[in-house]
Amino acid sequence: MFGDGIYEVIPVYGGKPFTLPRHLVRLSNSLKEIRLANPLSDAAWTDLIAEAIARSGEETAYVYVQVTRGVAPRRDHLYPPDATPTVLVMVYEAPILERKTVTPLAMITLEDFRWARGHIKTVSLIAAGLLKNEAVAQGADDAILIRDGYVTEATASNIFIAKNGVLVTPPKTSLLLHGITRDVVVELARAQGLVVEERQISLEELENADEIMITSSGHETWPVGMLNGRQVGNGEGGVLWHQVDQLFQEFKGAS
Ligand code: PDD
Repeated sequence: MFGDGIYEVIPVYGGKPFTLPRHLVRLSNSLKEIRLANPLSDAAWTDLIAEAIARSGEETAYVYVQVTRGVAPRRDHLYPPDATPTVLVMVYEAPILERKTVTPLAMITLEDFRWARGHIKTVSLIAAGLLKNEAVAQGADDAILIRDGYVTEATASNIFIAKNGVLVTPPKTSLLLHGITRDVVVELARAQGLVVEERQISLEELENADEIMITSSGHETWPVGMLNGRQVGNGEGGVLWHQVDQLFQEFKGAS
């Protein structure tokens, strides 16, 4: 009733959960932020997730993990003191992860009217859903969200731009989700000697970017070809996107 819970989406490649320790850290942080005790140890989560994947029989999939506050005797804003959190683990097929074709996305910018605790991966996704549906109603694939003139993220992914050979992504404040794909991309790019700046991106800078890309567990890295009806760069994946994507695919293959 209160949307009082948090979740994780973990990609599965070759029957193995990808970057699971990072997801468990974020799960634990989200739980702390909503003042809900973590019902399982990291070892127990790891076993449970492995069991769910094994039982599904899937090789390429997502694991969805959700923890909500639990069952209470009546509706009350005050947290029930003795409730046992409800844990849900679900495995589902993920055709997008096979990446047969990477068609650049068409995005529009919309005002980010979500709450100011975007770093919590909450199941309360009504604002994200409204924004995504508004973008699609306007003929786009998704929206890049702008708060006080600056990019935060997209409705379910993080944003990078490239300008003059430099990658830029917004810093990890409480206004956006600290994406795991984002972190992996930043680390891989820097290890390769690419320059990555973590700083604010103004709407004007976004509109003048040489390249725009998104990162998420669902899309890995994916180019944006159109922004607000105008072509971004050559409209295909740019040089830096290709480089970053290659690094990511190599890392995935080695994981
Ligand atoms: N979404 N920002 C938001 C608002 C997100 O919901 C997500 C992930 C990301 C990317 O985070 P990561 O790289 O850790 O997946 C950024 C998931 C996939 C979802 O809700 O389906």
